[in-house]
Amino acid sequence: MTTANSTPAIEAINLTQYYGDAASENRVTALDNVSITAERGELLCLIGPSGCGKSTLLNIMGGLAMPKSGQLLVNGKPITGPKPDDIAFVFQESPLFPWSTIVENIKVGLEFRGVPKEERDGRAWSALEAVGLKPFGNHFPGQISGGMKQRAQLARALSLNTDIILMDEPFGALDEQTRMVLGEDLSVMLSKTEKTIVFVTHSLVEAVFLADRVAIMTSLPGQIKEIIEIDEPHPRNPDFIMSDKFNKLRNHLYALLHDEIRKAVERESALSAKRT
Ligand SMILES: Nc1ncnc2c1ncn2[C@@H]1O[C@H](COP(=O)(O)OP(=O)(O)O)[C@@H](O)[C@H]1O
Ligand SMILES: [Mg+2]
Repeated sequence: MTTANSTPAIEAINLTQYYGDAASENRVTALDNVSITAERGELLCLIGPSGCGKSTLLNIMGGLAMPKSGQLLVNGKPITGPKPDDIAFVFQESPLFPWSTIVENIKVGLEFRGVPKEERDGRAWSALEAVGLKPFGNHFPGQISGGMKQRAQLARALSLNTDIILMDEPFGALDEQTRMVLGEDLSVMLSKTEKTIVFVTHSLVEAVFLADRVAIMTSLPGQIKEIIEIDEPHPRNPDFIMSDKFNKLRNHLYALLHDEIRKAVERESALSAKRT
């Protein structure tokens, strides 16, 4: 889904990130010289074992954290600090204010980004419509389900009209069936836009169903093990999940991921043994 403008939306070059002092034996190298590109208009999935550096990479891509070394280009420009104007985020837990209605919550986000008052109402309602939540715009967060709250978060991100949306396990706290329906709806929604999406997930099915490309990360120190292409037009048809093509891709992904998950679990056990 790339367009004539071939400058990548996001270009991460040789990113290294660690936590803890150099001298400390507890230093964690979350990213080790990672380079990856999100092409304009694509949905790039990041998948990998728990604790492998997915959120670290996504946060650096969004300018929420600075790497220890390496460079990040957003729309071809180097980023040296927070870059909220080009980028919206969707996180796993929905940070909605419980005392405001859904539409008011979205309008707060628009106010925060400096959108003029007279535009906020229209933009908030059309984003709610896009995610199928218009009938619930005047409800309070406590009155809607977990799946609807994540739709509200998507609406908030869409209302900001950014070119890029970064999503960190946005459906991770939902049950399997709700996340499948949300995944299908997201595929339809995104096929109508030219947005670039980077989507972190630990679900193989979600990755194959949604992504144009899936980047598999290694266990720590986090690196990109392999990138696989999912060559299937959007919006993805629910029947895609039952096809041989889907199964082959999912199995290939599973094989790549399996060793990394085992290494991550073994690393965790070794660390706990050292602590006790
Ligand atoms: N602020 C932090 N301080 C110390 N260690 C951290 C911090 N953030 C993440 N880590 C560690 O870095 C590694 C990667 O974390 P993260 O990027 O959150 O992984 P993922 O999102 O893949 O689960 C983990 O081992 C985690 O414990
Ligand atoms: Mg994470």
